[in-house]
Amino acid sequence: MNIFKSSSAADTGRLAGCLARSGARGSIIFLSGPIGSGKTVFVQGLARALGLSDIPSSASFAIARSYRGAGASLYHFDLFRLKADEMRECGYEEALQDADGVIAVEWPAPALEYFPQDRLELDFELLPDGGRRIRARAGGAQSSQLLEKAARLWLKKTK
Ligand SMILES: Nc1ncnc2c1ncn2[C@@H]1O[C@H](COP(=O)(O)OP(=O)(O)OP(=O)(O)O)[C@@H](O)[C@H]1O
Ligand SMILES: [Mg+2]
Repeated sequence: MNIFKSSSAADTGRLAGCLARSGARGSIIFLSGPIGSGKTVFVQGLARALGLSDIPSSASFAIARSYRGAGASLYHFDLFRLKADEMRECGYEEALQDADGVIAVEWPAPALEYFPQDRLELDFELLPDGGRRIRARAGGAQSSQLLEKAARLWLKKTK
């Protein structure tokens, strides 16, 4: 497990950028944590770092949206209002078939058994000082490698 401290929205965006530049294509990132903890800010950072011009919005009530760019696609799910037996309707199977796509899932509880175990799970926590603590756990070989690389980039950035 890795722990990252983010002291601003820009910081959280930078962490997403580290992941995007560490071979995030084809990977799955679960984002948990309370309302307003920065999950969508993280996805916006991913989109920017992947060179996507359309940026996911925080105010969106969409359950699933995809963003296609020249070299990468981003699939953004917000499953806050979804029940596990409604999972088939959100289009996750199509996202899983895109080998170059990055999948980001906010409120992943209904999705736990539908996605491969080899995924990166990020847990956002609000800190009393206004910052965020982000705990990262990798569920398999691909996500471990992604996390290790990203953690090294993050250290370089914050030195
Ligand atoms: N360190 C930080 N990282 C991320 N966001 C931060 C940070 N500090 C302050 N913020 C602010 O907190 C808010 C996070 O909003 P965001 O929409 O990303 O939350 P969320 O976790 O997606 O919430 P929801 O569960 O409602 O989808 C933004 O307004 C952002 O500017
Ligand atoms: Mg959100």
